[in-house]
Amino acid sequence: MTTAIAYTRLGGPEVLEPIEVPEPVAGEGQVVVDVQAVGVNPIDAKLRSGQRPSDPIVEPRRIGSDAAGTVSAVGEGVEGFRVGDAVIVSGGNGTYASRIAVSADAVWPRPPAVPAPVGAALGIPVGTAYQALRSLDVGAGDTLLVHGGSGAVGQAVIQFARLWGATVIATSSESRFDRVRALGAEPVVYGDGLADRVRAAAPQGVTVAIDAAGTDEAIETSIELVADRSRIATLVRGKDAAGYGIRAFSGGGPTPLTPRQLAWRAEAMPVVLALLAAGAFDVERGPEFPLADAADAHRALDGVRGKIVLLP
Ligand SMILES: NC(=O)c1ccc[n+]([C@@H]2O[C@H](COP(=O)([O-])OP(=O)(O)OC[C@H]3O[C@@H](n4cnc5c(N)ncnc54)[C@H](OP(=O)(O)O)[C@@H]3O)[C@@H](O)[C@H]2O)c1
Repeated sequence: MTTAIAYTRLGGPEVLEPIEVPEPVAGEGQVVVDVQAVGVNPIDAKLRSGQRPSDPIVEPRRIGSDAAGTVSAVGEGVEGFRVGDAVIVSGGNGTYASRIAVSADAVWPRPPAVPAPVGAALGIPVGTAYQALRSLDVGAGDTLLVHGGSGAVGQAVIQFARLWGATVIATSSESRFDRVRALGAEPVVYGDGLADRVRAAAPQGVTVAIDAAGTDEAIETSIELVADRSRIATLVRGKDAAGYGIRAFSGGGPTPLTPRQLAWRAEAMPVVLALLAAGAFDVERGPEFPLADAADAHRALDGVRGKIVLLP
């Protein structure tokens, strides 16, 4: 048997419990991954609590999308992976577990320079950041405002945008300014008077904005500063985007990601793994918890610095 984390009712972190499940088997097109680290994302907590609607729970529901580990079995029809390969998983289903069977399409080779806790931190934040920037066509000549710049998504947004030649203004709490600056963005504290502070930081004007914070202030400030609403996107307030006349990339909105957007999210993985191997991208590691303490990991999500990971 293998240990996994599951919940049988929606609720607070306490609904997360370890359960024993049959050993996973590599079906056609799948590999089995012995998990060494699991990335904990805000969406996991939103699904667990019911803040993000999901189907009724009829059996213990597994949780988690991101992980890193090594391949321990390869199913029929899979090419490019062998037992023992170090890998990352992005877009898995139920990755809070010691061992998982996962489609080979959701698995990428992990270079030696990328330890498992870093590999597990990549999937959702990096894929989302990369896709949002590509969808908004961010590049040289742009001044980007990213709300939530000190978070996992925001830090990836800053790094890709800087690599692609944009100037970046990033909102964060003051205690996170050093981190934001180290990644190459100009930090601005969120809160009353935000628009004026951004104007002072970017007298040339802001051409594009990404909301990874989800506050009214983030959206309204973006609308005040960016002339073209098709270059404002929220990653959090998908339900409200149409009312504001701005774009949403998932974030609970009614419009699913397009095939192109999904392809960009997948494309982000080899890109970031190559950058990490070259020392040209940085992931801020956060607290680490034993897998069985997934509930404590969820309690730690609010106000966390760096990516929380679970260690099976
Ligand atoms: N649409 C998608 O596909 C998608 C994908 C990934 C994530 N998301 C969503 O994006 C959001 C960020 O995810 P994450 O993984 O980056 O989370 P995170 O690492 O916890 O970061 C949260 C960020 O929000 C900032 N923040 C907190 N309170 C704020 C406030 N009152 N005003 C402005 N900013 C505030 C934090 O700044 P300080 O820490 O400096 O205070 C931090 O930068 C989450 O809601 C997540 O669910 C959506």
